[in-house]
Amino acid sequence: MPIAVHPLRILAFTCALLTAAPAGAADPALPRHAERDAPRAAKRLILQHDGHPFAPFAPFADALRLVAEGRRTFRFDTFGDEAFWGGALRLHEAVAQLSPRDALGLGLKVDADALPHRLAAQLRAGRVDLDDPRTTVALLRLGAVVGVTGFFDEAGGLVSVGIQCALCHSTVDDSLAPGVGRRLDGWANRDLDVGRVIAAAPDLSPFEQLLGVDADTVRQVLLGWGPGKFDATLLLDGKTQGPTGSAAVLIPPAFGLAGVNLHTWTGWGSVPHWNALVANLEMGGQGTFVDHRLDDAERFPIAAREGFSEVRRTPDRVTPKLPGLHLYQLALEAPRPPRGSFDAQAAARGKALFEGRARCATCHVPPLYTEPGHNLHAPAEIGIDAFQAERSPTQGYRTAPLRGLWTHGKGGYYHDGRFATLRDVIDHYDGFLGLGLGEGEKSDLAEFLKSL
Ligand code: HEC
Ligand code: HEC
Repeated sequence: MPIAVHPLRILAFTCALLTAAPAGAADPALPRHAERDAPRAAKRLILQHDGHPFAPFAPFADALRLVAEGRRTFRFDTFGDEAFWGGALRLHEAVAQLSPRDALGLGLKVDADALPHRLAAQLRAGRVDLDDPRTTVALLRLGAVVGVTGFFDEAGGLVSVGIQCALCHSTVDDSLAPGVGRRLDGWANRDLDVGRVIAAAPDLSPFEQLLGVDADTVRQVLLGWGPGKFDATLLLDGKTQGPTGSAAVLIPPAFGLAGVNLHTWTGWGSVPHWNALVANLEMGGQGTFVDHRLDDAERFPIAAREGFSEVRRTPDRVTPKLPGLHLYQLALEAPRPPRGSFDAQAAARGKALFEGRARCATCHVPPLYTEPGHNLHAPAEIGIDAFQAERSPTQGYRTAPLRGLWTHGKGGYYHDGRFATLRDVIDHYDGFLGLGLGEGEKSDLAEFLKSL
């Protein structure tokens, strides 16, 4: 017999779940404010749903629990990578010398929700000393630096730092001050100069050893990346120069990925594949990663030599996090463009072109804007060089999902930012595909891209 549940109870239950964090051991690296959204009542409800009137909601409860866990991982989990960033590179020593002004200048972001009210008010009033490195350390102690966790000794000294996914794949809405605001998870941080941050580390010997070059050369390579870019393949193949400059690629968003088959610019694999690769091989986290495509000594000389195709560290701090991390990223929808940020009538005309004569939708199939199916292309199909594609086991380029394009224009378009503006992208397709678009049509198409 069906059990009647009052709609208000369902609503209360859902609200509780939405703010729930998973049960489990408290993570010492977790800033205290992260626990604010973990009401115990919600945990109890989740635990009790089996065999109760809420049983029909079990999959929703599980999904919400996983999403909440994934968000914590995305924002706060270092996977033990402080052993690399603090332990090996001693990056915390450079961080302790960094003024907040310089840190913001490097593109690091501050989470306004982690700031005590008084500090937030002082910041808004411009009464915080942004030139004192001690302020940077204080922000780290509050867990307020997006994607960076500080580790402190009993005397309060900064002894290590670790990084999170949010470092590159979150930004803030600048609501308090430039670089200080509410977190925007999934947004590519195109201000962040990762290379310059790493280059500041006093000890670069892990890079020197893997690449077989001296520290100055490593620094030169890192400083060559520029804001918004990172080279995830550097420590696999040792390549540093591409046809348009450094071999680094733009940080893509980590939102709008649900329904998309292959991920990364060159389609390395699924979200969990790439998350495991990044956590273990790029961030220096402690976990397990298996991908025997890296045994290809010609394509990946460093990875093959170092045995990166099979990394097994215990305890494994990555694998248990992959399901939540996966679901969280799939749950992050691409944000809609702000009102008035594009011309709606021109965008409507552009849409017709996109889906018609300009042939864009043959690859960027709406509403995913990538192919439902195998979404990879040979470089020649989009009229560009094969350099970055050849650095991937797929040797192809993945049709970029275009939703939320308006959030990541900084740094340009295509994997290496070779096209500075949407108009440049359109001109490229116009020439390469022989579309014969007129001036008005090109600008209509650009307005449509801004509307996605
Ligand atoms: C240091 C910066 C950095 C960090 C930290 C980082 N990423 Fe990325 N991420 C990148 C870059 C750059 C790419 C593009 C790589 C490529 O295509 O070669 C990328 C690609 C991705 C993609 C593919 C997006 C798409 O469009 O298909 C996902 C998903 C992703 N990262 C998630 C994560 C997660 C989850 C973490 C934490 C475990 C993480 N990243 C940590 C820089 C970073
Ligand atoms: C043959 C398949 C194909 C067609 C046709 C195609 N694209 Fe693309 N598009 C791609 C691929 C693949 C990429 C990724 C390129 C890279 O990684 O550098 C891409 C990238 C883009 C980007 C950059 C996205 C970003 O995040 O930087 C834009 C914008 C874009 N396409 C718009 C269009 C428009 C507009 C058309 C029609 C005029 C079009 N595309 C036609 C396959 C295609």
